[in-house]
Amino acid sequence: MNELQKELLETAELAENELAQTQDLSALETLRVHYLGRKGRLPALSAKLGKVPAAEKPAVGKTLNQVKNKIQGLFEQKTAELQESGCTTAPGLDLSLPGRRRGLGRKHPITRVMDEAVAIFRRMGFIVADGPDIEDVWHNFDALNSPPEHPSRTPEDTFYFNLQGDNWLNPETKLLRTQTSPVQIRVMQSQKPPLRIICPGRCYRPDTPDATHGMSFHQIEGLYVDKNVSLADLKGVLAHYAKEMFGNQVEVRLRPHYFPFTEPSVECDASCIICAGQGCRVCKGSGWLEIAGAGMVNPAVFENVGYDPEEYSGYAFGMGLERIAMIRYAINDLRLLYENDLRFLHQF
Ligand code: DAH
Repeated sequence: MNELQKELLETAELAENELAQTQDLSALETLRVHYLGRKGRLPALSAKLGKVPAAEKPAVGKTLNQVKNKIQGLFEQKTAELQESGCTTAPGLDLSLPGRRRGLGRKHPITRVMDEAVAIFRRMGFIVADGPDIEDVWHNFDALNSPPEHPSRTPEDTFYFNLQGDNWLNPETKLLRTQTSPVQIRVMQSQKPPLRIICPGRCYRPDTPDATHGMSFHQIEGLYVDKNVSLADLKGVLAHYAKEMFGNQVEVRLRPHYFPFTEPSVECDASCIICAGQGCRVCKGSGWLEIAGAGMVNPAVFENVGYDPEEYSGYAFGMGLERIAMIRYAINDLRLLYENDLRFLHQF
C-alpha cells in the first residue's frame, strides 16, 4: 500500500475517534477546521497526490475520496446529533445556558387600584375625562359653589402659585387642584348632557405627611348628568362598584354629609372587608369604611356651567385611592407608597 494511502486511512481512524469524544458544537467546529478547513489535514494530504507515481494515482485518489467522504459524513452526523441533544447551531453559542433575566416592571399598587376602578366604571358606561393638575380658583372652588370663607380655600390648605395678599380669592389665581372635582366643571363647560364621566387623577394639599396623609394623593371623580337622575341611581352605581372592587358580600350605606357642590350630600361607606362588618382596628370598631363623598349635583353648579337645573339633574362622587390600596394590600403606612423602595414595590 502506498504511504499516502496509509496516512489517509490513519487520518480517517483518528478523526473518527476524536469525533466520538466530542461533546459540544464548539469543539466540533475546532475539529472540523483541523481536518477539513482550508489549511487542514485533508487538503494537506490531497496536495500530496500530485507526487504519487502515475501508476498508483488512481488507487490513491480513490482512497482519498473515500476518506474525505467518510470524514465529511461523520461530521454531518455528529453535528445533527449534538443539535438534537440541545446544543446550538452557531458554534460557541450554547442555548442550553440559562439566559440573563431582565426584570419585568410591574404596576404600582396605586396604579393597580386606579386601573381596576376605572375598568369597573367603564363597564357601567362611564367615559374617562381629564383635566389639568394646575387649576384656577374659579374651577377648583367658585364654580363648585364653594363659599369664599370656606377654610379649605386658605393658603394653609391649598397650594397657590404667586401668592400675594389675598389674591387666593381671585378666580384667576392658579393653584394645584385640591380635588378632581374641577374636572366636572370643565367637562360640563365643553359638553351637553347627557354625560357620564369619571376622572382619575392626582390632587394636592399642604398636609404634613404621616401614615395616612401625603401632600399629593389620588382621587377618582364621577359625574352623571341626565334627565330624572336620582339618589337611588347613585347608590346603585356605588354599590355595584363596591361589590366589584371588594367582593360580592360587601354592602354599602349612605350617610348625610355636606359638600358645597352637591345637595343633598352623602358619604358612602362599604362594610369593612377586613372583619366583614364585625368591627376591627381598621374600621375602628364600626364595621364600615368610608369609600366616597357623593351627592346630587347642586343646582347652583349647573347654573355656573350654563345647564338648566329645571331640566337636568345629576349625581357626583369622589373617592380617594390611597386608602383603598392600603386596605386592599394591608399597607399600614402611606409613605411606603412613595419612597420608591423596590423591596416594598416588588411585592405587588
Ligand atoms: N371633592 C371632594 C373631596 O375632595 C370629594 C367629593 C365629594 C367629590 C362629593 C364629589 C362629591 O364629586 O359629590 O373631599
